[in-house]
Amino acid sequence: MEQYSIAIDGPAGSGKSSVSKEIAKILNIVYIDTGAMYRTVGLYCLRNHINLDNAEEIEKALQNIDMKITLSEGKQTIYLNGEDVTETIRTQQAGKAASDVAVIYAVREKLVQIQRELSKGHSVIMDGRDIGTNVLPHATVKIYLNASVEQRTNRRCHELMLLGKEYNKKRIEYEIIQRDENDKNRKYNPLKKAEDAIEIDNSNMDMEQTIKTILNIIKQKINV
Ligand code: DC
Repeated sequence: MEQYSIAIDGPAGSGKSSVSKEIAKILNIVYIDTGAMYRTVGLYCLRNHINLDNAEEIEKALQNIDMKITLSEGKQTIYLNGEDVTETIRTQQAGKAASDVAVIYAVREKLVQIQRELSKGHSVIMDGRDIGTNVLPHATVKIYLNASVEQRTNRRCHELMLLGKEYNKKRIEYEIIQRDENDKNRKYNPLKKAEDAIEIDNSNMDMEQTIKTILNIIKQKINV
């Protein structure tokens, strides 16, 4: 079968990564998590006390970041200057720092190049904010996965509860709204639905239903 690519974009907490991982398994294709790359740059900046409002400082820092990504058996592993940071970047703090560094053109340029390289030579499902609009503008299938702020807040609270962590629901809701604002209103490649993307609002769907809906859309386009 011909190679194909699936772009999944949408706001934080819409379930993009869980859904993409599962679909990658079902279709036996490569999953690429682009948010992890912005998180890695964010983590480097946090660790090195770089001012996240200072584009020049971040651009300089970028020269000291050697990012390597391996894709094996459906799992993406990401290395920052030789250290495996795949798990370390999964914090709220690194997510916020990722959203801050993602406004800078030089950061996006470097990461988009890596993402396009990684997508070559095999069928992929890639998730992020600008995949359908910028990274893979000719993707075979484009999905914009959305959900209400209320539902995304509830999901995040539920995750934290399962982890046994304390949380403040109002604070989580505020952070989600802030992240949406930051990602949608930046100058370069902001979060938005590509013209030819199919929007799915999964506020009232569980994971299984969301996966089923997306798989049906994929099957209409590709003979998988
Ligand atoms: O998907 P995530 O929560 O891991 O992404 C973290 C941040 O990285 C997100 O708020 C904005 C940025 N990002 C981006 O600008 N473009 C992408 N393709 C992926 C993520």
